[in-house]
Amino acid sequence: MVAGNSGVVCSAAPGKVILLGEHAVVYGRTALAASIDRYVEVVVTGVGRASQHNTVGARHAVPLLALERAAELTGLDPASITVTVAADLPAGVGLGSSAALSVALIRALAKFAGQPRSDALVCARAFEIEKIFHGFPSGIDNTVVTYGGLIAFRREDFVKPLATARPVPLVIALGRAPRETQKAVRGLRDRWERSPALYEPLFDEIDRLVNEAARAIAAGDLPTLGVLMNANHRLLQRLAVSTGELDEMVALARDSGASGAKLTGGGGGGAVICLCDADRERLVQSFTRAGWRAFAADIAQRGIDGADGAGRFEQHNSASA
Ligand code: MEV
Repeated sequence: MVAGNSGVVCSAAPGKVILLGEHAVVYGRTALAASIDRYVEVVVTGVGRASQHNTVGARHAVPLLALERAAELTGLDPASITVTVAADLPAGVGLGSSAALSVALIRALAKFAGQPRSDALVCARAFEIEKIFHGFPSGIDNTVVTYGGLIAFRREDFVKPLATARPVPLVIALGRAPRETQKAVRGLRDRWERSPALYEPLFDEIDRLVNEAARAIAAGDLPTLGVLMNANHRLLQRLAVSTGELDEMVALARDSGASGAKLTGGGGGGAVICLCDADRERLVQSFTRAGWRAFAADIAQRGIDGADGAGRFEQHNSASA
């Protein structure tokens, strides 16, 4: 076991959105993802003795299994540390809170143990934690959260950073029904196994939209990007991963001035992303008036590898092993 240190270390990692290509990415197609300017922060302190309690806060608590696996990957004794989590990123809505938690946890533990923490190593270890949360993830979430910015990702093939000719202004609205990524991914796999000939052309069509979207982003052509996002949502509906509520939210966004809107992440509940080049505050208010929480978001760069000491947030949920 690694000795660790007696101080305090912290690390913050951003949430993410899938701009286009979720689900198809699980089947080897390309997807575009971006980190957003909302974060999960992990603070690690040494307790110097086995802690008897496991006080877990509500939404961003570290599941014990994930904490134990992360500690094991770092060579730390989980009983010798206390992990505290804080966030301004909503959890359980498909915005990458588990990936952000995994990446921040791995970075903080490596720092605590005085170990190297290259992005490649952090990404690989966070993928191991993601499997605890999601079963068989493609790896896109932990990748974009580790490296930050906007990326094109193809499973076991490539990760390419994409330059944006113009900022990509987003509004994110949260559905009332929580998403269940693992359930949505498993459900689609069952359907695909029964009728691959039905689903493969849909995945190919999504791949085509993704490639066009990458070109639109590079050219700063936001109207085309919006059209492609709308087309992607229609294909997600055909994959049966959207819901009545998400469709309603997408319709509201388009009626309220968004040039594109779609579900983001696993679907089956969760969040929608809207491309809104006009008045984002107006769109946020339209969602709020209709009873949904919404906020403006921008693409963020990589996470902040913590300075020692105080964290970014005031509200902390804690978990000790
Ligand atoms: C989740 O953010 C995206 C999915 O494509 C699942 C995955 O890629 O692991 C639905």
